Formats: sequence, structure tokens, C-alpha cells
Amino acid sequence: MSVILVEGGKRLSGAVTVQGAKNSVLPILAATVLSGGVCCVKGCPDLSDVDTAAQIIRHLGGEVRREGADLVVDTRCISRCEIPEELMRQMRSSVMFLGAILGRCGEAVCSQPGGCELGPRPIDLHLSALRKLGAGIEQRGGRLRCTGGAALRGAEITLTLPSVGATENIMLCACAAEGVTVIRNAAREPEIVDLARFLRAMGARIQGEGSSTVRIEGGRGTLRGCEHRVIGDRIVCATYLSAVACAGGEASLIGAEPEQLAAVTGVLRDAGAEILATGPDALTIRRDRPLEGGVVVRTSPYPGFPTDAQPVVMAALCNARRSSLFVETMFENRYRHVDELRRMGADIRVEDRVAVVGVTENGLRGTAVTAHDLRGGGALCVAALGAEGPTILTGLSHIRRGYASLPEDLRSLGADIALHTDQN
Ligand code: UD1
Repeated sequence: MSVILVEGGKRLSGAVTVQGAKNSVLPILAATVLSGGVCCVKGCPDLSDVDTAAQIIRHLGGEVRREGADLVVDTRCISRCEIPEELMRQMRSSVMFLGAILGRCGEAVCSQPGGCELGPRPIDLHLSALRKLGAGIEQRGGRLRCTGGAALRGAEITLTLPSVGATENIMLCACAAEGVTVIRNAAREPEIVDLARFLRAMGARIQGEGSSTVRIEGGRGTLRGCEHRVIGDRIVCATYLSAVACAGGEASLIGAEPEQLAAVTGVLRDAGAEILATGPDALTIRRDRPLEGGVVVRTSPYPGFPTDAQPVVMAALCNARRSSLFVETMFENRYRHVDELRRMGADIRVEDRVAVVGVTENGLRGTAVTAHDLRGGGALCVAALGAEGPTILTGLSHIRRGYASLPEDLRSLGADIALHTDQN
């Protein structure tokens, strides 16, 4: 079994460049299927979710090869339209390939993405939108079959909630639908903007990304290969900001846009950290005195506080002098890190979607803990850095899904952290 060992209590200092955004790169890799050409995705992080997306493309008949930090994807020879069940099960974002495969092949077959670690995550909005674009959808024995891709037509689609994945799936499918598609109440996340830029580089006509109305003028056979650099990962950046807020010290984080992190930096500032935007893609955080805490964090769609940053910021606030309150509005089961933080001495009470983070008497203490999901794993690392004594962290397969170099990056900031890989 592989473990991360952390000897806590060391102040952090230095500078680190954050990886490319996982949540940008996954829909972008799905989009390459539509291009029917060769795409170069620059700054593509080395993650197991990226491997899964590459396996899907290879299964469909495409080629994917890594060239240093970039991924070169050739989808000229796509010959299959079905995603195997084991790849669907590995990653919920596999569902993003549905719109792209349907648009490219006229038909797409996959299974329902399984119930995930964050609670039930339905795809009803994805499916009803594809139907509006003219797709026929059959669901039998857990398999989903979408047909009618050759006759897709643009449509007006109003989402009942601004789902990130549904917005992306519609954008992909709409590129292949004749005529104009308008998505209302679209998600506004920076990763949607990045996907739109990628699609535009492929020749698509898209407007309004980043606002709640996105307009796509589609058409068959109009797309081509392209080159694109993915944006920095704002959640990885939030993790490193939280690490400094928890352990203390001063560090610069390069590669993520300060504006995209405004909700997170606002909370950390209110809790007592000093944070400055030091460039168009750089932030510096300093925390000399103990964190004050006393903040209220309510997760909501962008530009609100991101649900993905809730666990890491919660971990930092365990070391504060006053209590804080969290309200998780996005997912039902997003407090799985809480029991593990309690094992480290944290005083956290949860009722439904509300968590009260009390004052940790005598501070956090290192112990053996397990990551049960991706960002919960990030949170346990953050807590371990601010804890007294050694922490042994297991459950690393979750962390590998979204953090390309967590121990290495934190070590470059002076943390005493090491990955021990079991060769067996
Ligand atoms: C994306 C991110 C994930 C992040 C989430 C919310 C990727 C690969 N993942 O996930 O890291 O936590 O946004 O910011 O980008 N919903 C429905 N029906 C649907 C779709 C969604 O009810 O058809 C609900 C979900 O259950 C959830 C809410 O909408 O309660 C938001 O989900 P959504 O924005 O779709 O998240 P994902 O795209 O799955």
C-alpha cells in the first residue's frame, strides 16, 4: 500500500507553479473526439482521471500520446461509439463523452455513471438536453443508448440548475447540431470558458461563455484539430493556499488567476490570512499569527465558494482560534473528511448540510488517516501540515485522480512530506 508521510508543524515558504486544471482538461479531451483531427492539449496534468479519458479515446479508435507536459490526441480514426462499463465506473466525467461521441458518430452507448463518493449525482439534465437537441435515448439494464446524431438540431435549453457537466455536454453536442443552440442558466465556471476557447480554436462558433447564456452555432464537419493551453487548477491552488493558512508561512502560487479564486481568498482573508494578487496569474499568501477563523462558508455555483474547495479550507480552519460554519449546498455527502479530521483532534459537528468547526483543543495531532474522496485527501494533507507530529495518509488512489504532484509541490515549499510507494 502506498502512503504519504507528513511530519507536521513546519512553516511553509517559497513559490510553486500549479498544474493545469483537471476540470478543464477532461471536457477538453472529450471535445477532441469532435475535431476529427490532431489536437495538442498543453499543460495537461498527469492524473489518473486523464489516463481514464485517454483510455476512452483509445477505445474509440483514437490515439493519445504524452509529449512532456502536453497530450497529443489524434481522433481522425474514431471507429467505435461505445464506452466500456469499467471506464464509466472509474470516472463520473466519462459522461462528458456522450455529447461528443453522439455529435461525431451519430450514436453513443455508455452505462450510467455509478453513484459516486459525493452522494447521488444524477445525469437527468444531460439527457433531457440531448433529447431537446433531437437525440433519442434508450435506457436498458444500466446501459444508455443515444441515437439520432446525424439529425441533431439546435435548440433553446433552460437548465433548472447551472450544472457544470450538463452545460459542457450540451456545448459539445451543440457544435455538431445544425443551427443555433442557446443554453440559459448555464454554469459560469472558468472551466466552461476554457472549454469554449478550446472549441473556438477547433473552429466552433460560441459566444457568451462565462455568463449564464451561452450561444452555439453548430454544423457538421466544420471542426478541425487545434492547439490549446489549459488554465491553471484553481482547486489545487486553493489547496496550497489552505496549506499555508494551516501551517503558517509565506508562499507564492503561480499559474492560477486570482479572480477565479476570489471566493476562496475572501474567506481565508476574513479568517486572518494575508493574501495579495501579485500578478495576472500569481497570488502570495502570508500567515504569521494564528488564524482567527470565525467565518461562514456557503458553497454555491461560480462565482460563489466552490464545493471542491470546502474540504481543504475546512482543514485549515481547524487550526483557528474561533469557530467557523460551513453550509454545503451542492452535494449531499461531502463531509467524508470530517471523521478523519476528528481523528486528528478536530472538533467538528455535522448536521445534514451544516458543519460547525470548533476550536481544536491543543491543536491538530498527526495520526493515521484515510482519504475517502479526492478533495478530502487534499484536506487531510492540509491538516497534517498544520498538525503536531507524524501523519500517515492512505487512500492515495483518490488523490492521484486530481493532484499531479501534491507531495512534491508541498515539499518544494519546505514541508516535511514524502510519498512511499509500495512496489508489491
Ligand atoms: C463538476 C466538477 C466537480 C464539482 C462540480 C460542482 C468536473 C469534472 N467536475 O461536477 O469537481 O464539484 O462541478 O462545482 O468538472 N445535478 C443534477 N442533475 C444533473 C446534473 C447535476 O441534479 O443532470 C446536480 C448534482 O447532483 C449537484 C449539482 O447539480 O447537486 C451540481 O452538479 P454539476 O455542476 O453537474 O457537477 P459536475 O459537473 O458533476
